[in-house]
Amino acid sequence: QSVAVLGAPFSRGQKRRGVEHGPKVIRDAGLIERLSGLDYSVHDFGDLNFHHLEKDEPYMDVKFPRNVGAANKMLSGAVSRAVGAGHTLVINLLYVKRHAQQCPDLCLIWVDAHADVNTPMTSPSGNLHGQPVAFMLKELQDKMPDIPGFSWMKPCLSSSDLVYIGLRDVDPGEHHILKNLGIQYFTMRDIDRLGIQRVMEVTFDHLLARKQRPIHLSFDIDAFDPSLAPATGTPVNGGLTYREGIYITEEIHNTGLLSAMDLVEVNPVLGATQEAVEATASLAVDVIASSLGQTREGAHPSIDEIP
Ligand code: ARG
Ligand code: MN
Ligand code: MN
Repeated sequence: QSVAVLGAPFSRGQKRRGVEHGPKVIRDAGLIERLSGLDYSVHDFGDLNFHHLEKDEPYMDVKFPRNVGAANKMLSGAVSRAVGAGHTLVINLLYVKRHAQQCPDLCLIWVDAHADVNTPMTSPSGNLHGQPVAFMLKELQDKMPDIPGFSWMKPCLSSSDLVYIGLRDVDPGEHHILKNLGIQYFTMRDIDRLGIQRVMEVTFDHLLARKQRPIHLSFDIDAFDPSLAPATGTPVNGGLTYREGIYITEEIHNTGLLSAMDLVEVNPVLGATQEAVEATASLAVDVIASSLGQTREGAHPSIDEIP
């Protein structure tokens, strides 16, 4: 089987720089070798080269709308091309416009401390990295203003096609949206209460009970506890343990339905030390490898005979 890797070094979804170096540290932590070791043929599409647009006044409170819009348009095109080549995973972008055109049935599992479902009207920060889900949801389209740079983008998901896992920092406007649209979500409190195993069962029940469909996994590294993933822009205490995170990705792999994933928000500039950066990047590699079939129980290539 084959997997495509695509880096999207971009940081204008928020004000702080550094997250554009995420793809490099994740590669340096051995991503490609690890995937090759899992017996994939790896198609590395390299990192995209985004053009910076000098003139980009905020729209309402929204920062860098034209840069974010254009970067995502470019990313979207690259993803479409890569999907033709097999699995795709997109590392470290701030705003996902996925392969919904190729996969009309797509559902989305969003693992994150944050819901990222603010609209430009509800956003307390004006940062677009807190808003991507709002752009994707059909139910929110009448709430979305015409932001410069985003006219090409069409909503691709219904609120019932989405499950959140790991939430613990949800803005009031976001909470209103989650409740109002009846979106399925599991906060860290829900994980405490139900256990991660039950959370995954209900997640798949919700998304797959009626029919099997391709899954997009969006994994924000800040879903993990900051003790495990310190090099990130908006850390929130009380996050996933290593084992909970890896259990999520193992279960997603076991469905056999993962079609694409992205891993976002690794920011090497915000690590206090080199070790902190390396730990965060190597965690990202573990998450990706486990989503693609690395197991904790081990595996062997053939059943013929014991050497
Ligand atoms: N909810 C906050 C906001 O809208 C924080 C979002 C954090 N998002 C992220 N991708 N790290 O600004
Ligand atoms: Mn987050
Ligand atoms: Mn996020």
